[in-house]
Amino acid sequence: IPVIVLHEVRHAVPLARALVAGGIRMLEITLRTPQALQAMRAIAAEVPQAVVGAGTVRQAADAEAAQRAGARFAVSPGLTPALARACRALALPLLPGVATASEIMAAQDEGLNALKFFPAMQAGGTAMLRAWQGPFADVLFCPTGGVQPDNAPQLLALPNVACVGGSWLAPAAALERGDWAQVTALARAACSLRGL
Ligand code: 3PG
Repeated sequence: IPVIVLHEVRHAVPLARALVAGGIRMLEITLRTPQALQAMRAIAAEVPQAVVGAGTVRQAADAEAAQRAGARFAVSPGLTPALARACRALALPLLPGVATASEIMAAQDEGLNALKFFPAMQAGGTAMLRAWQGPFADVLFCPTGGVQPDNAPQLLALPNVACVGGSWLAPAAALERGDWAQVTALARAACSLRGL
């Protein structure tokens, strides 16, 4: 899952097309810039092959605004009962961030068993995911934070890792240059990471 920070709405559609062309359809547009909602709207309207979602969703109002803008899923750095409740009420799939056993248990209390491990490499990486396999055999993780093409294969080889996320798939410099070919090449390379 590319973790995307967009500063220019005009980058949204070509970026989404470039990622889709490289085989990446799930796009997380972080709510970290004032352009994020409009970018989601543009992608939802113009790139039907993409599944656009919102990242950095922290409050109920974020989830509501994102869904109105066309987001089909939400990703959050952590989890609160209020956010879980809001996403349930909206029927908006939520991938919430966890970094400890207690946070996993709180997410499971909310009925969530597919979780983002954030910040993954800073919080223990593959060793932590291995440790969680015992008590949390029913949980799947998406490690995000510090994930790169060189460490992704070890993460993706773990049975409790469904996918990974990271910002390397949408580098700021490539967006600035409008180097959509580079983005497509990065996406294509990312699609072959599992099994390397
Ligand atoms: C983030 O929230 O910025 C993501 O976890 C991406 O982290 P990364 O830049 O280390 O890939």
